[in-house]
Amino acid sequence: MKKICVIGSLNMDLVVNVDEMPKKGQTLIGSSFREVPGGKGANQAVAIARLGGDICMIGKIGNDSFGKILLNQLKEDNVKTDYIKEENCSSGVAIITVDKNAENSIVVAPGANFKLLKEDIDKCIDGINNSDIVVVQLETPIDTIRYSLQKAKELEKYTILNPAPAVKLDDSIIKNVDLLTPNETELEILSGISIKNEEDIKIAARTMIEKGVKELIVTLGSKGSLYINKDEFKFKKSYKVNAIDTTAAGDSYTGALAVAFSKDKSIDKAMDFASKVGALTVMKKGAQTSLPKIEDVINFKGE
Ligand code: RIB
Repeated sequence: MKKICVIGSLNMDLVVNVDEMPKKGQTLIGSSFREVPGGKGANQAVAIARLGGDICMIGKIGNDSFGKILLNQLKEDNVKTDYIKEENCSSGVAIITVDKNAENSIVVAPGANFKLLKEDIDKCIDGINNSDIVVVQLETPIDTIRYSLQKAKELEKYTILNPAPAVKLDDSIIKNVDLLTPNETELEILSGISIKNEEDIKIAARTMIEKGVKELIVTLGSKGSLYINKDEFKFKKSYKVNAIDTTAAGDSYTGALAVAFSKDKSIDKAMDFASKVGALTVMKKGAQTSLPKIEDVINFKGE
C-alpha cells in the first residue's frame, strides 16, 4: 500500500443547527450547539486513517485547549502527527450553521493554519519524501500550498488538490496538480467559466487540463461525480441517502480517493468507493464525527 501525506488545516468547528440560514442583519435562535474537530486538512487525514490508509499530516495548531483536542483526535485515529507543530496563537476555528436541508454555511478564522509557512514544509520534508501521494486543500497560505506542490512534484509524488475554499489559482500552482477534486462552484471559480450544464463542466475541466492538471474528479453533490482527463470522460451516479449534514462530505470524498489510489484501484472503483464514503458522511452530523470507518463502507448497502 502506498503512503499518503496530507498538508493542511485543523479547525475546531463551532456548530449551530438552524431551520433557515440567517439573513443579513438577522439574529436567529438555533436548536443546538456542538464543538466538533474539523478543518479540511484534518478531516481528510482522519477520513484516510479510518478507511485504512497509511497517513501522516503536516499542519499547525495553536497553544490553546482546541489545539490539544484537535491533536488528540488525530492521534486517536492513528494519523501520524510528528509534523503537527504548535504555534503561540489560537487554533483555527470554523463557525458553522447547518440548516434543515442539511446545507451548511462556514466562516473560518484560520489562526495557526496561516502560520504554516514554506520553511515549515522544508522542516517536514521527510513527511512528503516518505509518502507516495500528497493531498492539499486551500485553508493554509497560498505560498505554502504552491511550495508544497512544487516540492511534492520535485520528489515525484502524485499530488491531489482539493480546491476548497475556492480562490482563483495561478498557473504555478495548477501545473503541479495531478488530480483536482472541485465541486461545480469551485470549478467555476478556478476556470472562470460559468457552469450551467454538463457541457460547461467539460469545457471548464479542459481549461484546467490545458493549464497542466492531469485529471479531474468534479463532485456534483447528490447527482454524482464526473471524471475527466485529456481523452476520457466518466460519470458516476451518487448513492441515494437521507442527508442530515453535508459538512465534510467533500473532504471524505477526496480522502477516499487517496485511499483507493494508494491501493492501486481503478478510477471506476475509486469513484464508487468515494461515493459510498461521501454518502455515509452526510448521514451523520458534524465533520470528524461523521467520517465513516472502512467496515461501515463494506457494510453499506446503498441504492
Ligand atoms: O469541509 C468542512 C470543513 O470546512 C469544516 O470542518 C471546517 O472546519 C472548514 O474547514
